[in-house]
Amino acid sequence: MELKSYKHLFPTLADGSVHYFDHAATTQMPSVVIEAMKKGLDEGRANPWRGLYPWAEEATESLEESRRVVVSFFGAQPEQTIFTSGATEGLNMVAFGVEHLLLAGDVIVVTQAEHHSNLLPWREVARRTHAEVDIVPVGIDGRLDEAAFDAALRRAPKIVAMTHVSNVTGAAFDVFDLTKRAKSAGAFVVIDAAQSAAHLRIDFSSLGADALAVSAHKLYGPMGIGALLLSDRLSDVLWPAKWGGGMVDRVGTNDFVLTPVPRRFEAGTRNVLGAKGFAQALKWLQELGWPGVEALERRLMLKLDTGLRALPGVTVYGPTAEARFGVTSLSIAGRHSHDLAEALGERGICVRAGLHCASLMTSSLDPRGTLRISLGLGNDESDVDALLAALKDLL
Ligand code: ALA
Repeated sequence: MELKSYKHLFPTLADGSVHYFDHAATTQMPSVVIEAMKKGLDEGRANPWRGLYPWAEEATESLEESRRVVVSFFGAQPEQTIFTSGATEGLNMVAFGVEHLLLAGDVIVVTQAEHHSNLLPWREVARRTHAEVDIVPVGIDGRLDEAAFDAALRRAPKIVAMTHVSNVTGAAFDVFDLTKRAKSAGAFVVIDAAQSAAHLRIDFSSLGADALAVSAHKLYGPMGIGALLLSDRLSDVLWPAKWGGGMVDRVGTNDFVLTPVPRRFEAGTRNVLGAKGFAQALKWLQELGWPGVEALERRLMLKLDTGLRALPGVTVYGPTAEARFGVTSLSIAGRHSHDLAEALGERGICVRAGLHCASLMTSSLDPRGTLRISLGLGNDESDVDALLAALKDLL
């Protein structure tokens, strides 16, 4: 298969002056997304789901068309697909939406690889309800401790919340199998797919999870928009974590009737323009096709890995390059990751350094934090060459 590059499709990267390796934090946007959003800005805007004049109806139609694209991309149903401000909000909505189901002594299972957005909401809900958060260990190779996971399941947890791909090691958990096991143990299963969705195909209906959260800005779309997918069995019992306009069918002096899902979880004005950009990014990815995306990322990851391992004093964490999705974390003997990231930044090379908002995982690799190189469709082989040459020069 001929290896395609997509870098020329990103206006901020096309001239080659910036080598962008921070896709795991935020991706750049391709011109099709930027143009769709610019066009949206030029049009009359209105609040969706509220007005009866043409602009208002167009706003509703635009939002619902964007929802249809998200639905099709992730293999969900429209009534399972909620627009959020991003994965963090989606995960918080689930955690605080099940608070009323949790009793003192109940168990919530998470993994050591969780980003703070899939750890801290659970800790806070556990603090409020006197439930317990059981953290399943993850090795420096990125592997989940399966025996500890099974032991945690024997405690009949109400919730199992786990990341799909680690934002520190790039390792993917086998969420299909883990979801099946956790559901057999009676738990609701929550998946943080913020780091996986840009790298591998997700089909919510066959996955069988109860909740799955993504952010558009890690998927070549804009910031401030994302999606939360919910199973019917979870949305039946999930209590809204946000209250306001657009989520009720009727309000009386002492009572109210919630609007059906998804809108009962969408109080307030939705980000119509953001949803348009999100949908355009997903359509763009769908048109590129997963085989081309995966082939490019695999090739770049292998080239990066080979080059890094040839440098003096480098420790690469996580699984082998073939099993890493987008992310490589490393330490270099005697060098602090922040110093290296700053020096690379001065050379036009963007990486992230530190604990990556995933302290439990990262500090087990290197208490001072790691240098994280995260690649994606904004990269080609020349970026990897530039990064390796710069590191060689700095060591
Ligand atoms: N969650 C983002 C990252 O890993 C911000 O960098």
